Amino acid sequence: MMNEKLEKAFNDQINAEFYSEYLYLSMYAYFERINLQGFKNWMDVQRQEERAHAMGMFNYVHERGGKVKLQAIEQPDTEWDSPLAVFEAVLKHEQLVTSKINALMDVADEVKDRAAVSFLDWYLKEQVEEEANVGNVLKTLKMICNDANCLYMLDKELATRTFVAPVIG
Ligand code: FEO
Repeated sequence: MMNEKLEKAFNDQINAEFYSEYLYLSMYAYFERINLQGFKNWMDVQRQEERAHAMGMFNYVHERGGKVKLQAIEQPDTEWDSPLAVFEAVLKHEQLVTSKINALMDVADEVKDRAAVSFLDWYLKEQVEEEANVGNVLKTLKMICNDANCLYMLDKELATRTFVAPVIG
């Protein structure tokens, strides 16, 4: 059985991961509207990763004999001023997710669920990687955001990102 407080914290994080998928899907729609297909592809891969993160926790709660309780997903933003503004929002969001995973880990620690702490370690490492990836795109965008040719080149680069289902835990 899973501790009740920890189960609630996992359910909140499952919701945050589904919200992340929703947010990146909304950004996908934005890039479709402004016809940046590579950026759109990047968001498509990102949203699939978020779905995998959510399902990893979803399955883990079940595996531990807990109850998954899905919650309403908040409405994401739908408009941004530029690709740069989108990636600034992505970095801010990922930093928030990192703090949420840390808080979830604190709860697992508090209730002395070492298995959950160990499971969540994968998510923390994933956050380090995600923040670094987003930070790299953001750095490039800051250098080139006024140059349409460079934006075009970056779009081509982001078109090459592919989704590889993560092995969680
Ligand atoms: Fe699942 Fe990007 O955090």
